[in-house]
Amino acid sequence: MTTATPSADRTVEPFDAVDVIRTKRDGGRLSDEQIDWVVDAYTRGVVAEEQMAALAMAILLRGMERAEISRWTNAMIASGERMDFSALRHPTADKHSTGGVGDKITLPLAPLVAVFDVAVPQLSGRGLGHTGGTLDKLEAIPGWRASLTNDEMMRQLDEVGAVICAAGSGLAPADKKLYALRDVTGTVEAIPLIASSIMSKKIAEGTASLVLDVKTGAGAFMREESDARELARTMVDLGTDAGVRTVALLTDMSAPLGRTVGNALEVRESVEVLAGGGPADVVELTVALAREMLTAAGRPDVDVEAALRDGRAMDVWRRMIRAQGGDPEAPLPQAAHTAEIRADRAGVVRSLDALKVGVAGWRLGAGRSRPGESVQAGAGVEILRHVGETVAAGDVLAVLHTDTPERFARAQEAIDGAWDLAPEGTELLPRRIVRDRIA
Ligand code: URA
Repeated sequence: MTTATPSADRTVEPFDAVDVIRTKRDGGRLSDEQIDWVVDAYTRGVVAEEQMAALAMAILLRGMERAEISRWTNAMIASGERMDFSALRHPTADKHSTGGVGDKITLPLAPLVAVFDVAVPQLSGRGLGHTGGTLDKLEAIPGWRASLTNDEMMRQLDEVGAVICAAGSGLAPADKKLYALRDVTGTVEAIPLIASSIMSKKIAEGTASLVLDVKTGAGAFMREESDARELARTMVDLGTDAGVRTVALLTDMSAPLGRTVGNALEVRESVEVLAGGGPADVVELTVALAREMLTAAGRPDVDVEAALRDGRAMDVWRRMIRAQGGDPEAPLPQAAHTAEIRADRAGVVRSLDALKVGVAGWRLGAGRSRPGESVQAGAGVEILRHVGETVAAGDVLAVLHTDTPERFARAQEAIDGAWDLAPEGTELLPRRIVRDRIA
């Protein structure tokens, strides 16, 4: 006779994590039941971190079929709450960017779209590594707060039309745990895992339509355009299968967007766009994404650019910032110290390496190297010579900003060689920001 050993948890699990790992390791297809179980059991702590790490690596190496990714996404959605915007007066549209350098587009975009009676619930994140985070940028505005309750968010969406805030911990908790694990196990770059991570949060958030800005180039997660294209296709299919009108733009992240990288610096540039000015690439992408969001939300024929010129988008911006405790008229923080980067020869800027500029901004204090660290509001890089512009020997290419001047040396090291200069007089093709549209 055998006697069962008493255990804290007597639940009999229907699968064994090792069998699930072996199935994927050997190139097999995970069954729906295996996927539902492994995601749920991992969230409950029954599947150990090292087992999920092995499975994530097997997925990275072996890939997943469309049906597997869709089931995995649904299992992550089922791990948490779902939001519901159906009681709002206006249709909803959301945007997600896969992240880049100088990517401040959410700031002018959300109020711009809201001008046309489309509600924009923008649940955003913080920067990690060389890419900046929308919440860190907005927190440079005195008084602004990122955390709202679901009720506050709904009220603001109804009254102002746009909200940019932190995602609550209730949305897709399985992803939160898995993302942290992938970050430390070299498994971030798996397309099925990136796609399901992003889309589980977006679908759980409950938006009716979604525009994805999938970036490609030196400063993006997906450096190769073919990988970015596959990621875009996978996410559009996931959104469409879940009943969300989803479209993706494939956009250039070989060079930083606009002339600023860093929190307060990027807010300043976003306000310039809202005032009808700002750098051409930021305006172009803001307008392209706004048109897609408005079309998806049933407002295809509006004049988006007019709302930037005539101050309507700026009005919504001011109301949006005030609704979250911020003072849109307050001076933005400025770093205490600056240093210049100068050209050692003349030429025309053929390319400007987004990754090098992003890492420099991060080292100056604009980003964090560990979750929870604080960032400097005023730190970052101001770019004075961008792609296509002529440079004379000795010209200032960029100004570095920081409160802690001991950071300059490592930032200068990072940005060294970022400008690739063609001989003077070289005719360059104009930079194409939007490379393709995937629906
Ligand atoms: N952003 C996410 O939310 N998840 C990923 O896996 C990558 C980027």
